[in-house]
Amino acid sequence: MSHSKYSPSKDRYTDSVGYRYCGKSGLQLPTISLGLWHNFGDVDDAEEAEKMLKYAFDQGITHFDLANNYGTPFGSAEKNFGKMMKDLFSSHRDEMIISTKAGHNMWDGPYGDGGSRKYLIASLNQSLKRMKLDYVDIFYSHRYDPETPVEETMGALSDMVKQGKALYVGISKYPIEKAREAYRILKENGTPCLINQDRYSIFTREVENEVIPLAKENGVGFIAFSPLAQGLLSDKYMNGIPENSRAAHSYGFLQKSQITAEKVEKIKALNKMAAQRGQSLAQMALAWLLRSNDVNSVIVGTSSVIQLQNNIDALKNISFTDDELWRIGELGV
Ligand SMILES: NC(=O)c1ccc[n+]([C@@H]2O[C@H](COP(=O)([O-])OP(=O)(O)OC[C@H]3O[C@@H](n4cnc5c(N)ncnc54)[C@H](OP(=O)(O)O)[C@@H]3O)[C@@H](O)[C@H]2O)c1
Repeated sequence: MSHSKYSPSKDRYTDSVGYRYCGKSGLQLPTISLGLWHNFGDVDDAEEAEKMLKYAFDQGITHFDLANNYGTPFGSAEKNFGKMMKDLFSSHRDEMIISTKAGHNMWDGPYGDGGSRKYLIASLNQSLKRMKLDYVDIFYSHRYDPETPVEETMGALSDMVKQGKALYVGISKYPIEKAREAYRILKENGTPCLINQDRYSIFTREVENEVIPLAKENGVGFIAFSPLAQGLLSDKYMNGIPENSRAAHSYGFLQKSQITAEKVEKIKALNKMAAQRGQSLAQMALAWLLRSNDVNSVIVGTSSVIQLQNNIDALKNISFTDDELWRIGELGV
């Protein structure tokens, strides 16, 4: 596909989504980041993907979240993003925070999965090639690997920073005691952990107990993934499973079995509450996460510009009454 010419909006930083400092670091992240897990692979609509990236950047969304295995087939999201970086955004590289990760299964054999130094360093080199970049801004260990000492995984991350291939490093989905160990080791190595990325939404609140408080105590930022529970926290599944939705796709990660009658009842009640606030359910779900500054950013994964636009409008009202918070607490469990 040949890319149309693009000059970003001149107002992108004055009329923008706004920024929050990531933990105790000097790095600011946009309140809303764009994730490329779904919707940017070879099976997806390339034209819409390009429109979403441009629209995001025009709204001041400077952070794009990837991983080695994003897209169908694996690696295609990085490859497609790389093409757009080269053709559309190359003169704006210094305005962008691009993250990638390794930790889940990526290639055959013993070195394409887990947390070994061998896997992580080889994978980052591959990601840089696919994305046509000299460095990434954030590299994550995508998950804790019980077979690899945390020292080895963190040592690999620290070396990436020292080699200039990553500016910052982070962890994702680590059990709490392993996160504590990772923070300590990275600090000792002189490459402090920038950020912890974990699942957080009205429907999945486990991180409130220990993950977010520990990150805060260590000056580490927190960024929420799947803030809409992969689309469940929207009006889309209230009356069945629409064609073209994530749950309808054979290659999507949202399973039809997750959309139970009980869940739909909760979605309907939450949708009613959102309407009373003058918001869509997706907007209320994002606003609910961003009501606290402990959440530095939420990573949304939209399939259209319209969804992205709708999600950005969540920022118009991110305050909640005690009664609303109580009701969301009751419905979210
Ligand atoms: N670290 C990790 O292990 C990890 C794991 C998962 C995700 N992530 C990151 O987090 C990002 C976001 O995850 P996610 O895609 O699951 O996020 P999500 O925002 O919870 O779900 C995205 C899906 O919700 C639907 N949606 C979004 N906005 C909508 C709106 N305004 N109205 C109606 N539906 C809407 C779309 O579904 P349809 O496609 O059906 O339209 C979209 O594909 C990923 O891209 C990735 O960067 C990281």
